[in-house]
Amino acid sequence: MKLPFNIDLKDKVCVVTGGTGVLCGAMADALAECGAKVAILALGKEACEAKAKSINDNGGCAIGIETNVLEKESLKRAHEIILNELGPCDILINGAGGNHPKGTTTKEYLLEEDLDNDELTSFYDLDPKGVEFVFNLNFLGTLLPSQEFSKDMLNRKGCSIINISSMNAYTPLTKIPAYSGAKAAVSNFTQWLAVHMSKVGVRVNAIAPGFFVTAQNEKLLFNEDGTPTERSEKILNSTPMGRFGEANELLGTLLFLVCEDASSFVNGVVVPVDGAFSAYSGV
Ligand SMILES: NC(=O)c1ccc[n+]([C@@H]2O[C@H](COP(=O)([O-])OP(=O)(O)OC[C@H]3O[C@@H](n4cnc5c(N)ncnc54)[C@H](O)[C@@H]3O)[C@@H](O)[C@H]2O)c1
Repeated sequence: MKLPFNIDLKDKVCVVTGGTGVLCGAMADALAECGAKVAILALGKEACEAKAKSINDNGGCAIGIETNVLEKESLKRAHEIILNELGPCDILINGAGGNHPKGTTTKEYLLEEDLDNDELTSFYDLDPKGVEFVFNLNFLGTLLPSQEFSKDMLNRKGCSIINISSMNAYTPLTKIPAYSGAKAAVSNFTQWLAVHMSKVGVRVNAIAPGFFVTAQNEKLLFNEDGTPTERSEKILNSTPMGRFGEANELLGTLLFLVCEDASSFVNGVVVPVDGAFSAYSGV
């Protein structure tokens, strides 16, 4: 029997927010390798242009546009450039996101004797601005690009949105209530939008990566001498496969979800790619 699909994204226009980052940068490379025309939207003009250049140097087709996913005007401007240079958006990867120290407690557990220690950030010290920043970046940073680019997708074949959630969306991770809540909101929004868009032919799914070493979390995971931090050891002990993921291990799931022929009836799901972290009770 001949399989009814191959992963051919020839001339599909893919918008990748956070496309200069470690995980979504790998996704942008993979989409280009499958024939897509890729728009890299992220902070920093130079980083966006450098990423697009590296894709073009490898025989792909990409443009880089400095964009803030939290500003409607910035998204609108990027959209106009993409329409002019590449055409209407077929696939949107909402990858821009992350945590911020101001939405993070120093310790895992609240102990009364710590409350007078000015060097610690307790639950009571969490800065509303920090919490707001993290919530907005991850949730609004997914919603606003979806509003902007899904307009191109309505009732056109093969269009979909992929959001990037996280393990902390299932069960919150200690210390990072804002990031956990925001990613839970991203998973929830994935389901909501999948339902909302189901009559106009736009599928909406998400990937929930487990633990991957990236620029954002490297300092949390490794000491200066390269040994794993205490948190890192806990993560590895809670990941039955006993290691961190590699960015390229997200790509099979991504390509399956964006390839209409392969996943045409898959809609509103959040796929964990996590070495069985989310399946493990710890016992
Ligand atoms: N690293 C992990 O283990 C892990 C695990 C689960 C989920 N995630 C999620 O995966 C996604 C990518 O993570 P990463 O570690 O590759 O990130 P990264 O830190 O390597 O890159 C972040 C990207 O987001 C962009 N960005 C940040 N703020 C932006 C804004 N306001 N507007 C536009 N772009 C903005 C940056 O320019 C950069 O391209 C994020 O949503 C992150 O929350 C990461």
